[in-house]
Amino acid sequence: MHNNTFHLLGIGLICVIIGAGLLLAMVGRELAPGGGLTARGRWLLATGLGTGVIAFAAKLALILFILARPQWLVAPSIALANHRVEPPPPALYDTPASGRYVWQALPLQAPSPAENPWSTAKAALGERLFHDRRLSADGRVACADCHALQRHAGADGRPRAIGIHQQQGPRNTPTVWNAAFAPALFWDARADSLEAQALGPLFNPKEMGLGDPAELEQWVRDDGDYRREFAAAFGPQSPIDLVHIARAIAAYERTLITPQSPYDRFVRGEQGALTPAQLRGMALFAEVGCVQCHSGANFSDGTRRLFPANPTPFDARYRLHEEANRTWRVPSLRNVARTAPYFHNGAVATLEEAVRVMASAQLALPLAGQAPQPPLWSEAEQALAAPARAPLDDAQVADLVAFLHALTGDALQSGESELVGLARHQE
Ligand code: HEC
Ligand code: HEC
Repeated sequence: MHNNTFHLLGIGLICVIIGAGLLLAMVGRELAPGGGLTARGRWLLATGLGTGVIAFAAKLALILFILARPQWLVAPSIALANHRVEPPPPALYDTPASGRYVWQALPLQAPSPAENPWSTAKAALGERLFHDRRLSADGRVACADCHALQRHAGADGRPRAIGIHQQQGPRNTPTVWNAAFAPALFWDARADSLEAQALGPLFNPKEMGLGDPAELEQWVRDDGDYRREFAAAFGPQSPIDLVHIARAIAAYERTLITPQSPYDRFVRGEQGALTPAQLRGMALFAEVGCVQCHSGANFSDGTRRLFPANPTPFDARYRLHEEANRTWRVPSLRNVARTAPYFHNGAVATLEEAVRVMASAQLALPLAGQAPQPPLWSEAEQALAAPARAPLDDAQVADLVAFLHALTGDALQSGESELVGLARHQE
């Protein structure tokens, strides 16, 4: 039982004792023989008054008790949900008619789901699990080896991930920084929460390669340090199981956010936070339509889009059709200047080239110095869909790239400790 409950029960008990004391005192003094009542009359009156006091005390104790534990009366999810009043998401365009895009800064804290409220103890436990190589089949691969928080800004700098026994996986490693803000995780958006995502790599044969979930649970239970940290994070009665392992890791990942970057500081009103090239790139980013997909504070609308949407010479060069899957989750562009190589297959080495691929494959923008692309739509359809656009020249590509550099978090820019996010996160 909760400590508070004991306190309140204590207060109730004291009230009851005071009530009983008053009763006896009244019988002994106030209603003394001088009052002219018979002994029976005194007892009757005193019992009437006394039980009134006792009943009042009992009610008081009950009310205090209920106030302290509302979830005993209301179903837990409802009671907890009531404590989380989410602000409505801000509008992306100031009015639908104006079409003026509203730039948003990243919130200073990542949201936590009702069933996994954030705490320092949970995040500290999650941090240990995230860095623990013993959680892999060969004892050599931790989450942090593929998601190197500082050195590779939460990714691994490789085209495709390399897991246990040096096996190469099929896809590029996305950064874990700001994953807390993504409504859908993985390149194909197959996980909908950090909790759901966290167990994937542990049992993926090419990543950490663990075999039996029960074995992992037992191993963690057998470790004295982990046992203590689980008790601190979830309470001594809570089981040490996959659900709680995932919750701790997710709580830690919610500290890995970069809400301060030159871009965010600019949006929050710091003039001079962006260079002239970055400002030009920012305007261009909205004007040419990158914001159709890379929108909102995290530069991703969380949807899955056809990629490439238009056929371009890049398809063959970067083997963009290699996988049967053709739709990919729009990735966040935060810290993207630090997470080369790019795209789901890691085939593009530079940010300049990634921007060219996007402009051409996703927006059908002609690129200066390149042969015009074969039209995907009929001329009538094109006339309906988009006005003819001037080709994007190299200077404009450079401005877009400069703007993307402004999305690198100050915490990564200055090489501050990995715990920056954790320290910033206030309970
Ligand atoms: C062998 C390298 C490797 C290891 C080890 C690894 N990951 Fe990953 N991680 C990846 C790759 C590759 C993806 C993308 C997979 C996909 O989309 O199919 C990914 C995706 C993710 C994502 C989703 C990011 C996004 O934006 O969609 C998160 C979060 C994540 N990993 C966290 C973790 C955690 C937590 C661990 C440890 C329990 C871990 N990873 C271990 C390589 C790794
Ligand atoms: C129609 C939606 C759409 C539009 C418009 C769009 N993108 Fe993308 N972008 C995506 C998708 C989807 C991906 C992931 C593709 C993949 O890797 O498979 C992506 C990936 C990227 C990447 C690589 C990210 C990484 O971590 O590998 C960059 C950089 C990028 N976009 C920049 C831009 C820029 C700049 C523009 C405007 C010129 C733009 N995008 C317009 C949907 C879009």
